[in-house]
Amino acid sequence: MNLSQVEIKQLPKIEDDRGNLTFVEGGNQVPFDIKRTYLIYDVPGGEARGGHAYRELDEFIVALSGSFNLHLDDGTSQLKINLNRSYNAVFVPHGLWRKMDNFSTNSLCLVLASTEYNEADYIRDYNEFLKYTVANA
Ligand code: TYD
Repeated sequence: MNLSQVEIKQLPKIEDDRGNLTFVEGGNQVPFDIKRTYLIYDVPGGEARGGHAYRELDEFIVALSGSFNLHLDDGTSQLKINLNRSYNAVFVPHGLWRKMDNFSTNSLCLVLASTEYNEADYIRDYNEFLKYTVANA
């Protein structure tokens, strides 16, 4: 995988005097069947989450509230995306190193995932990740 497969998406936004509504559908805005969702929240100032890659797992990441930076790396190039709107999302395909940091106070990150949790799918060592990218080029 390389960074060209990352997709920054604008989700549908139904504006209404009563408040806005945004939706996501598996197989539509999300290009996979959603098997799992998880939230990242109450991140103390200065902390980072992630710092690993997945061999198989694809993810779809939304800043439901607040903001944070998403750092992506394909072993050759790096990309930083600031997520700060509920209707913006990023499709992160498997095979990329990814980290989130610079979480604002009360930020809430939603992750939609293509597989169930599987620790064996993680690559947690950056040098191992670099070898993986060379082997899978
Ligand atoms: P991890 O994915 O390593 O978090 P981060 O990348 O944000 O630092 O997960 C942290 C812990 O939570 C780890 O022990 C596994 C557990 N976990 C689950 O049990 N299920 C899940 O769906 C996720 C994402 C994590």
